[in-house]
Amino acid sequence: MTQDELKAMVGQAALDHVVAGEIVGVGTGSTVNKFIDALAGMKDRIQGAVSSSEASTARLVALGIPVFDCNDVGEIAVYIDGADEIDHQGYMIKGGGAALTREKIVAAQSRRFVCIADESKLVHRLGDFPLPVEVIPMAARRIARQFAEFGAEATLRLKDGQPLVTDNGQHILDVRGLGIADPLAFESAVNQWPGVVTVGVFAHQKAQTCLLGTPDGVRTLKFD
Ligand code: A5P
Repeated sequence: MTQDELKAMVGQAALDHVVAGEIVGVGTGSTVNKFIDALAGMKDRIQGAVSSSEASTARLVALGIPVFDCNDVGEIAVYIDGADEIDHQGYMIKGGGAALTREKIVAAQSRRFVCIADESKLVHRLGDFPLPVEVIPMAARRIARQFAEFGAEATLRLKDGQPLVTDNGQHILDVRGLGIADPLAFESAVNQWPGVVTVGVFAHQKAQTCLLGTPDGVRTLKFD
């Protein structure tokens, strides 16, 4: 089974977690794109979606799924999103698609986080995947030096040779060489650094469920 097929399988399986008659929170990425495509098949049974990126919004709208602003809705029943890494507690690294800030906002507004991922994303300890950190551009070099004090290397993410600009008009640092032993403490600490918009560790907004795509089918992990 290809990785693409595993992603399609969990994207489809996530439909079982969508609450009929409600608004669903929608993440960002190639796995979520499979979910959005599957969601189109039940669009008449939901009110619509809250989206975590311009890219997901465009895909939802193209499929005729209404997209609401976070400020216009209350608590969201469920948030469906992918991950770059997920551990056995439901803690994640996210932001490979640069959408981490809005993803964390929608996750924080949601009762449950259902992570959809192929089995390559499951890890024992977070940190092999370069950690995305969204930063205010004027603080990027100082924040990179702060990571260097921990023996980690932060590089500015580029697109077409220029600093990538997020949906929020900010930049992304990708940080290599971190072994994140205590995700809750790490997230809280880095969030305090001036100029950090969002750190891509999702520990305070962890997943309650992970639908993991394996060649033997969808494996459901529960973290409650
Ligand atoms: C987007 O910013 C990320 O948080 C994605 O959720 C994550 O990178 C997973 O993406 P894929 O489903 O494309 O692997």
